[in-house]
Amino acid sequence: MAIKQYPIEKSVRYFWISIGVFTLAVIFDIISGLGVVNAIARLFDSKPTIILTEPLVKPKKIITKKEDVIIPSTMNDPYKDLQAIVDGKEIPEKYKDIIIDSHHLNVDSNPSIGELLNITVDKYSTYLELFQAGITQHEMYPEDDWVVQKLLHKLATKTIKHAYEKEGGTQFKMIVKYSDGYRAMFKPMRNTRTQQKNINHFYFNDYERHNGEIAAYHLDKILKFRRAVPIVGRSINLTSELFPVADDELFHTFYISPAGKVCFTGRCDTYCDSFHGICGNPHMLEGSFAAYLPRDKRAYRKVWRSPWRRSYDKRRLNPWEVDDNYCQIVRKIPPYDSGRRMLDMMDMAILDFFIGNEDRHHYETFKTFNENDTFIIHLDHGRSFGLPFHDNLPILSPVKQCCMIRKSTLKTLLDFHNGEKKLSAALNDSMKSDPLSPVLWEPHLEALDRRNVIILETIRNCIKKVD
Ligand SMILES: *[C@@H]1O[C@H](CO)[C@@H](O)[C@H](O)[C@H]1NC(C)=O
Ligand SMILES: *[C@@H]1O[C@H](CO)[C@@H](O)[C@H](O)[C@H]1NC(C)=O
Ligand SMILES: *[C@@H]1O[C@H](CO)[C@@H](O)[C@H](O)[C@H]1NC(C)=O
Ligand SMILES: *[C@@H]1O[C@H](CO)[C@@H](O)[C@H](O)[C@H]1NC(C)=O
Repeated sequence: MAIKQYPIEKSVRYFWISIGVFTLAVIFDIISGLGVVNAIARLFDSKPTIILTEPLVKPKKIITKKEDVIIPSTMNDPYKDLQAIVDGKEIPEKYKDIIIDSHHLNVDSNPSIGELLNITVDKYSTYLELFQAGITQHEMYPEDDWVVQKLLHKLATKTIKHAYEKEGGTQFKMIVKYSDGYRAMFKPMRNTRTQQKNINHFYFNDYERHNGEIAAYHLDKILKFRRAVPIVGRSINLTSELFPVADDELFHTFYISPAGKVCFTGRCDTYCDSFHGICGNPHMLEGSFAAYLPRDKRAYRKVWRSPWRRSYDKRRLNPWEVDDNYCQIVRKIPPYDSGRRMLDMMDMAILDFFIGNEDRHHYETFKTFNENDTFIIHLDHGRSFGLPFHDNLPILSPVKQCCMIRKSTLKTLLDFHNGEKKLSAALNDSMKSDPLSPVLWEPHLEALDRRNVIILETIRNCIKKVD
């Protein structure tokens, strides 16, 4: 049976012809690059056009050469004005809001984690247990503490029994377990001592420095804050000390580089591929080993956002960067309105200015203690000691904007400035006990004395304002 053919209507035929012509025109437009279609499309396009703009803040000149270092004009000024205030019995009334005499460390009530959680320590306790139980409401460890010295020696010498990568974070961190319950947090060496920070990288994509971690612990100690986690350096043989004890996941990221070095990548978010491989020389790798903080839930830490955190957006600024009255707002908000918190913020800004740490977006306190009246833990100093010739003034903004400093801190700074042993020499000496000594490149030490003067000058300017 024949299929009945229907005649195609004329209009339908024209319709298909015009569709064909239109399609050919569009194809011609695209191939020839006339861009008519593109132009029409753009009329209906609501997406903003991408234009490369200048950064909002003109970058300041970052100094990377010794010849360009700016030496403060008051380098040899003994700061007698400040010294007199510190040495006097009473702080003069008009300076009482600037230089604060805080007796927090002398308060009768300074319970330890061990006391509050009923942790009994005895002659069988390890140094790690003694250290953890001995953390008090007002400091990480006491002055002239022998426990921390013993603990660091253990972390630097004991055989590693097990190691696995710590999850989270952009850069590689490893949890190291030894016998007897000892544990440490490990960060590998990624830069040589003399390698400066890449000034075209934002601070948040700069490699962390294991030696910065070690140096910051020592500096925190000699500035008498004692709020940092104890950290020691150690060189490990990747082949004989880490490879055999690495967990399966870590184990599988080991490889030998084309230059015959033993390397691994880890599995962290951003910098854990063979492009960023962590390599021994050919077996040995330096790292920082931080004492483990208590794992008891009751001694966990509360995380606070720093009021002076930096914007992690490459183009946006935070209120403190544009408003010099920002501090007046902060000091009215709990817990910054009372107790030790605001003074701790000033001390932390001073520590960060010394070490050049811009990365203090959050900070932590122990939940065991009254959350509004316990010390700020100085934690995570991997992004420090990157630029020895550049003094990063914005880091000192909290002190400049609030015009506030603990009397004890000011006294310590003056003692180093005027005393026989400058801060540079004191830190140098303190770090000689570390197995990785010399921990810092010499210019980083010299920078401390210069930065000390910049801090003193900042306080002097505050004093002048009320005179
Ligand atoms: C610790 O012991 C004291 C006295 O026996 C008791 O009052 C307190 O509730 C205990 N604390 C904890 C956290 O168990
Ligand atoms: C590291 O360990 C490997 C394997 O045991 C050994 O061959 C090498 O000599 C060691 N290197 C050093 C510097 O101890
Ligand atoms: C800390 O301060 C906040 C805000 O004033 C308050 O809500 C909280 O109860 C305080 N915490 C303690 C333990 O006193
Ligand atoms: C640090 O110690 C080394 C070695 O003893 C010494 O050469 C250097 O001058 C010291 N640096 C400072 C700033 O004290």
